[in-house]
Amino acid sequence: MKKIEAIWNHPKFRHYLALNEEWEKDRVFCLHDKNHLIDVARIGYILNLEQNLGFEKELIYAAALLHDIGKWMQYQDGTPHHKASAFLCMEILQDAGFSPIECNTIESAIATHKEYLLEDASLNRLLFMADIKSRLCFACTQKEHCNWKDSQKNHTLTL
Ligand SMILES: [Fe+2]
Repeated sequence: MKKIEAIWNHPKFRHYLALNEEWEKDRVFCLHDKNHLIDVARIGYILNLEQNLGFEKELIYAAALLHDIGKWMQYQDGTPHHKASAFLCMEILQDAGFSPIECNTIESAIATHKEYLLEDASLNRLLFMADIKSRLCFACTQKEHCNWKDSQKNHTLTL
């Protein structure tokens, strides 16, 4: 997956992850770090296989790796992180060699990844579900203080 390697090694991707890490160094809630991004990629690909959605692995990994790269901007100036990430992802996707249609598909999925989406077979919903499933709310010591709605927390161990 050369395009995924290109994202992973992109200087701006690395820079945004470093900014997330800096802003979250004292955070007690879920982090938006490389572990989370890779968890979402892998869970998204499992859901894709289990549900026979047929998305290319590169599309899922690209959306997952980039979906939270703008979290630091939310801490900095209040820009919702799904919007910031959708904005920041385009240059990296283009540099990695994704086509304009692929870029738009991934950007759309990132832009809606905090919206509860009805049952459908879109990459948008796949990213949304993988993001939730990646969180260990059922085992979290901070769940009483977390501002996620109870209906949006992940209460189950299995996918
Ligand atoms: Fe996320």
